Amino acid sequence: MNPGFEQLPARLIAWFDRHGRDLPWRKDRTPYRVWIAEIMLQQTRVETVVPYYRRWLETFPTVEALAEASETDVLKIWEGLGYYSRARSLRRAAEIIVRDFRGELPADLNRLKKLPGIGPYTGGSISSIAFANPIPALDGNVRRVYSRLFDIEAPLKSKESEAELEKISAALYALPEVRARPGDYLEGLMDLGATVCLPAAPRCVACPWAESCAAKARGVQTARPVVLKKAPVPAYLVAAAVIADSDGRVLLTRRPKNGLLGGLWEFPGGKTEDGESLEDCVRREIREELAVEFTPIRPFGVYRHAYTHFKITLHAFVGTIPADSKPKALSADALDWAAPEQLNAYPMGKVDRLIARKWLTETRLNEPDPQSKESGSPRTKRGKTIKE
Ligand code: ADE
Repeated sequence: MNPGFEQLPARLIAWFDRHGRDLPWRKDRTPYRVWIAEIMLQQTRVETVVPYYRRWLETFPTVEALAEASETDVLKIWEGLGYYSRARSLRRAAEIIVRDFRGELPADLNRLKKLPGIGPYTGGSISSIAFANPIPALDGNVRRVYSRLFDIEAPLKSKESEAELEKISAALYALPEVRARPGDYLEGLMDLGATVCLPAAPRCVACPWAESCAAKARGVQTARPVVLKKAPVPAYLVAAAVIADSDGRVLLTRRPKNGLLGGLWEFPGGKTEDGESLEDCVRREIREELAVEFTPIRPFGVYRHAYTHFKITLHAFVGTIPADSKPKALSADALDWAAPEQLNAYPMGKVDRLIARKWLTETRLNEPDPQSKESGSPRTKRGKTIKE
């Protein structure tokens, strides 16, 4: 074992008491507040989460308020945070907590883990932070810190390194200082990883564990954890349609609930097939999804976005459908014609929000100047050119 192993928790907790970050979920640590924070912090950086967390608590201050919210309300507050199933799971879990646990998040780990969206990591972090149950929880930061502290040579996330981390956690969580303050120990680890034991350039001079760090003793801290090269993610070429009616309302479809961006609204479209042109792709997609014939008229921007397992380049097209045709939601969950002033109320992913904003900007530019003499005349029909 490392020199000073038994002193590790006490040194970390003392460091956390002085240097821990002042974060909104660390004030008034009710189980509800901790739960929301831990879900938001899955796969998302602290700086990104803070404003979302504040807004969420203002909108849904209690489990009951969340249980009563609609999925659209919840997705709207979540918009931009990504991994949208987290938001849908929170709402479903709130319903269960109200129905089965009288509105109180269960302290028992097994009950916690049965709730939608709570896996082994979040179950452990909520147990530690909200209920002072010393249950280990490993996230990316914690894995990096331990990989250095114990100089783990097996690649990150390999069976060997996971087994080693489990053994290390068990030994540390047996120590009285961790058992007394498991939440502070865990948040101390997280903060150490986020502010001192940084991925590329660890600040070992500021580290309370520097003297015990096996990787530092060997001078290999920047080579830990060992990360195997990831396979490149596939890149898809996508085309989407911006279809407006004579009132300037645009056609949106809602993605099926279970799946990527589930429950969010989008401009209809899809992936190109081998050798297919973008225009042919968008015509085919609209035919398949909505059973109408789309005619692309002009390009409406190129949008790139990286998801976890693939990336897309999306080409939007403004175009028309025959005036007498009626789109049907064949593969989508729902379909709606959204007025420009309503567009913001539809929860969307990042790319579709960019298209919606561009649409809004263009339609506003086409509006008559309210100062001009013509301001009393009927409004220009936004999107009119599109239908003609
Ligand atoms: N990441 C996950 N949970 C966290 C927490 N409670 N504080 C800071 N970063 C975190």
